Parts: sequence; C-alpha cells; structure tokens
Amino acid sequence: MILLSCFLLVVIGKDLLFSGTIFFGPVFVPSAEDKLKLMLELAEPKPGEKIVDLGSGDGKILVELARKGYQSEGMEINPILVRRSRKNLRKLRLEQWAAVRRANFWKSDFSSYDLVFLYGMKHVMKRLEKKMLAELKPGARVVSNYFRFPDWRPEKVRDEVRLYRR
Ligand SMILES: C[S@@+](CC[C@H](N)C(=O)[O-])C[C@H]1O[C@@H](n2cnc3c(N)ncnc32)[C@H](O)[C@@H]1O
Repeated sequence: MILLSCFLLVVIGKDLLFSGTIFFGPVFVPSAEDKLKLMLELAEPKPGEKIVDLGSGDGKILVELARKGYQSEGMEINPILVRRSRKNLRKLRLEQWAAVRRANFWKSDFSSYDLVFLYGMKHVMKRLEKKMLAELKPGARVVSNYFRFPDWRPEKVRDEVRLYRR
C-alpha cells in the first residue's frame, strides 16, 4: 500500500492525486493564465449577468471574475475540488462573489445563464452542444477554452479560445 501510494505520488503527481481525479473520474486541468485572460476578453461580462463556470475545478475562473467585480457560480462534480475552491475564495476574501455547488452539469438546467465558461473535454462537446442549444436563452454566450463544438459556429476565435452566441 505504501509502495503504491509512493508510486502514485511520483508518477501521477500530487496535484492530480489530491484533486481526487483518480478517485472521482473527470480530469481536472486548470485553464492556463493566458487562456484565462483571453476567455475573459472574449466573454465581455456585464454587471448583473448570471455567470457560471461549468466544471469549476479549483475556482480559478471564479477568482478572476471576482477580482474584476463580477458575481459568478461554479458547478463542480468533484467534492475535493468544491472544497478546495471554496477555501481558495475564502483565503482571498472573495467568497461573497462566487458560490460553488457540487453538481453534475448533465443534470443541471442552463436556461438561467447569460454567460457560460467551459474548459471541458473533447468527448463531452457534442452532447454539451445539444444541451446548450436546447436550454440556453437567445443571446447567451459560451466561452470555451480549447475544445470546440462540432456543429455550432463560433462568433470569435482567438488562440483556441472560442466565443459562441446562442
Ligand atoms: C479541465 S477542468 C477545468 C477547471 C476550470 N474550469 C478551469 O478552467 O480552470 C474540468 C473540470 O470539470 C469537472 N467536471 C467534469 N465533468 C463534470 C460534470 N459532469 N459536472 C460537473 N463538473 C464536471 C472536472 O471535475 C474538472 O474539475
């Protein structure tokens, strides 16, 4: 058991292990700084908009939104990442700017959101495209880091970051 733990720490990396990825399934990779900056530029959030990060990971996008004065919410399936993101927000005294919920986005309704942040995985994009086109209100925007929807044409693309408008 000790040997196995050492192996996991060295080979898989402590962040992956402690994020719970290997125990809870979906992969956690935070958006890189330059992509995060681009996502916010393309998103052009406005005060009062309902903003969500689908699969909010450690809360990196929520923290950046809060720093810029935008309220947002995070939806994250991995309970360890939910706890970690809440702790990060608390440490930065930004907890009143973002609420993180443990939730499965497949079981959530997107119809109330004006702006959706997404850094998904290739294999979820087709199903997510269908769900978003069915549920998002007209005019709602989706900013996707790297992964593209197979049929939905983006309004803008910059360095693999895409802006979609419903
Ligand atoms: C690539 S990470 C992105 C993290 C963060 N959005 C960012 O850009 O830094 C994807 C996140 O989505 C979460 N996730 C995957 N499937 C999910 C689902 N069905 N419902 C909620 N969260 C999910 C994973 O646990 C992971 O934290």
